[in-house]
Amino acid sequence: MNAIADLSAAEREALRDRVRADYDAFRARGLKLDMTRGKPSPEQLDLANGMLALPGNGDYLTQSGEDARNYGGLQGLPETRALFSHVLGAPQDRIVVGDNSSLALMHDCLVFALLKGVPGSAQPWSKEPSPAFICPTPGYDRHFAICEEFGVRMLPVPLTGHGPDMDAVEALALDPAVKGMWCVPKYSNPTGEIYSDATIRRLASMRAGAADFRLFWDDAYSVHHLTERRHQILNILDECALAGCPDRPFVFASTSKVTLAGAGLALFAASQANVAWFLARIGKRTIGPDKLNQLRHVRFLRDEEGLRRHMDAHRALLAPKFAAVLEALERHLAGFGVARWSAPEGGYFIAVEALGGAKRVVELAKQAGLALTPAGATWPYGQDPHDSSLRLAPTFPTLDDVRIASEGIALCILLAGIEALCPVEGALGTQ
Ligand SMILES: Cc1ncc(COP(=O)(O)O)c(C=O)c1O
Repeated sequence: MNAIADLSAAEREALRDRVRADYDAFRARGLKLDMTRGKPSPEQLDLANGMLALPGNGDYLTQSGEDARNYGGLQGLPETRALFSHVLGAPQDRIVVGDNSSLALMHDCLVFALLKGVPGSAQPWSKEPSPAFICPTPGYDRHFAICEEFGVRMLPVPLTGHGPDMDAVEALALDPAVKGMWCVPKYSNPTGEIYSDATIRRLASMRAGAADFRLFWDDAYSVHHLTERRHQILNILDECALAGCPDRPFVFASTSKVTLAGAGLALFAASQANVAWFLARIGKRTIGPDKLNQLRHVRFLRDEEGLRRHMDAHRALLAPKFAAVLEALERHLAGFGVARWSAPEGGYFIAVEALGGAKRVVELAKQAGLALTPAGATWPYGQDPHDSSLRLAPTFPTLDDVRIASEGIALCILLAGIEALCPVEGALGTQ
């Protein structure tokens, strides 16, 4: 296959006519498919149906004989903390188990930091003239939404395929106004990349202008492998402690995409000082989390091996969907020079960079009945300066729908690329 740029005028014209005809035929099918939602499918949720009957009538006493039905237990049950200790890479006493949604914990940590400061702060972050976060990009739109909500400036840095561009990060981190950084270190949303050891060591040991700088380490996809290779990354808590900044990381995870997205457990791990700080803050907000749900998770997942088996069952459902998208992209686009895409080994997304423009691809897809994540969503303030980032979410639709949608998406990307490389006045507009 020749890159479009290398084709003769006649070859380009022939290609354009063929792709346009294919696109028109796809559009004429009048489909309605949605590839926007990074949600588990009903079949994935079914894997945890056994939980609906747990902990079961009469089963409410914890390992230490406490009554899980009652108030209290702010930090979470010791057995639940033990269950997730290997996921978080922290001992039980440095873990907090909250209710569903780790996003809520991230939100709370930022709000607490703005209102009260964190251990090591001279004053609350909101008293600083213009607090800012480093944002590896493309990234998770809801991280960016939290910053935007509270007026925290966002400083995008590019991702490299093995984590953020560390030269750029280190330069930005020297500014005392830079208080934190978002990191999705494994199977990143949406690029799927895995932070390398060198990246993690540099994040742990870099000089920060703010003494109270925090890594918001969102390990959302820690156990969400798509291949038999269960990638491991360096333990950020250990690396930061080794580098002499044990308080730098706030580690977050959850069971939203392990058990039930609407009824999972949120997990927080950090240094002793950070955990004490966090508990002091949330102790004003709640008298204690839902410990029956914690017991339910312990009864259902049991141990590290139980969690692994459960994630293998997710993988069996998800891997074919990701393979279907990649196969369609490869078959339609390889060699044309109109797009690059990630081939993630875990997580929930495939990232595409489209030469023909993300906005144009989303528009073409919409005309063909395919809902894609809005262009720009993966950039701070929704502004993608290159208008190229697309995020594909193949987890929720059925495998058949993913197959069909992938055909259409690949055609839209190709058509947009051809339009950009060989524009023809009025010829390729969508009616
Ligand atoms: C990187 C990342 N963090 C957090 C979340 C949400 O996590 P939770 O359901 O625990 O709030 C998502 C969901 O897509 C995500 O992609």
